[in-house]
Order: sequence, then C-alpha cells, then structure tokens
Amino acid sequence: MVLVAVLAGSLCGHSFAAAPGDGVAAGGGSISASEQTCRACHSIDTTKVGPPFRAIAERYRGDSDAVAKLKKSMLEGSSGKWNTGAQMPPNAISAADAERFAGWILGIK
Ligand code: HEC
Repeated sequence: MVLVAVLAGSLCGHSFAAAPGDGVAAGGGSISASEQTCRACHSIDTTKVGPPFRAIAERYRGDSDAVAKLKKSMLEGSSGKWNTGAQMPPNAISAADAERFAGWILGIK
C-alpha cells in the first residue's frame, strides 16, 4: 500500500502548514514558491479568487477520496464546483506537492 505510506507521510509533513497566513518564507524548500501561487487565489478563511481552504476542508471532510479529488483538481484545474465565478487553472506543481497540499488543507479544522 504505497499510497497509504505516501499519505501518512504527507499528513505529517508540515512544510505547508508551518505558518498559515504568513511566515511563508520560513518554511524553506521548493514548496514555498508554489504555496505563494496558491495564496494569490486562496486564503484560509476568506474567498479570494478561489474558495477558502477551510471551506474546502469542511466540504470534503469524511470523503475517503478527498485527497485524490483535491490532488486531481490542483494538477488538472477545476471549475464549476465552487460557484466562485472563476476557475482554477492546472497548477505547475508536482504530484507529491499536490498530495501534500491536499493533506494540509484537509487537516484544517
Ligand atoms: C488563478 C487562481 C488560483 C490559483 C493560483 C490556485 N487556485 Fe485553487 N481554486 C481556484 C478556484 C477559482 C477554485 C474553485 C474551482 C471550482 O469552482 O471548481 C479553486 C479550487 C481549489 C480547490 C478545491 C478543488 C475541488 O475539487 O473542490 C483546492 C483544493 C485548491 N483550489 C487548492 C489550490 C492550491 C493548493 C493551489 C496552489 C498550488 C491553488 N489552489 C492555486 C483558484 C486558484
């Protein structure tokens, strides 16, 4: 069950979650650059171009396919699910980063 191992790893990886909202640079590593792009359209609590990460966490809570769905949306883009009037273009991030972001977003309480 490689997937489970990867998932467990991503849920424990705190680089994206180190400092929600600020202190992004402190996280270090390649993830910071892509996180900056997300924040152009997303924040934790308010709707910007895209839905707030907390709302995403709430909608997908209890969905066992949530990581796979969010990962797909990040990698391939998404539209029509959130009624924001905008669409998310495919993000230039690795599958591993997408999975890490998905795990982090879903962990928001
Ligand atoms: C150009 C603006 C933009 C950028 C950049 C962007 N998003 Fe989005 N995102 C959106 C919009 C708009 C939606 C709502 C799409 C819809 O209605 O289906 C969305 C939806 C989402 C969703 C929910 C998808 C679903 O299937 O319900 C997730 C998760 C997400 N974004 C994460 C990210 C992450 C992580 C990044 C950075 C790697 C990112 N987004 C970058 C605009 C953006």
